[in-house]
Amino acid sequence: MAGMEPQPAVMFTAEQIARRVQELSRQISSDYAAADELVMVGVLRGCYIFLADLSRALTVRRRIDFIAVSTYGQQTCPSESLRLIMDVRSDLVGQHVLIVDDILDSGLTLHYLTHILRARNPASLRTCVFLRKPGRLQVDIAPDYLGFDIPDVWVVGYGLDCADRYRALPYIGQVDPQRL
Ligand code: IMP
Ligand code: MG
Repeated sequence: MAGMEPQPAVMFTAEQIARRVQELSRQISSDYAAADELVMVGVLRGCYIFLADLSRALTVRRRIDFIAVSTYGQQTCPSESLRLIMDVRSDLVGQHVLIVDDILDSGLTLHYLTHILRARNPASLRTCVFLRKPGRLQVDIAPDYLGFDIPDVWVVGYGLDCADRYRALPYIGQVDPQRL
């Protein structure tokens, strides 16, 4: 049992999240209205709840796929080298591809993934992240779709974890990783 796990301080409530996801889905559905199909590529594992909500809210035809890179593990600072752990199953040639991730921190993950997926010759390639920490960006990358900008703090919930805890929290909260 989790017992006395500290409760993260609320940053975005479930209602605020739901409202923003609806807005993003309207924007994405309208932008891709003329496309035959959209391939949503979720970056495991943090994307899973955002992708579930976003994919169900869209009105365009879409396929869902996943990709995974080496993660932070138990730490909270960016890993030096990124590694592809799991590749997509779809052939992306000529497809409209939207990479969906939970959060843009250093930006290295998204930078790496756009580089890899662009080489597969998709018809288009865009990125959608729910959160961004502008103060931590190390590479020049801007998401095409963004939920919220946040300060440089560690956030959990709505798919985001701290050492694999708190992912299923229905809201986005702030924790101090040193105190867990
Ligand atoms: P980046 O490569 O530094 O942009 O790292 C992005 C990845 O780091 C995200 O997909 C998350 O998995 C993880 N990450 C970064 N900041 C946080 C946070 O505040 N909470 C939970 N995970 C985070
Ligand atoms: Mg992630």
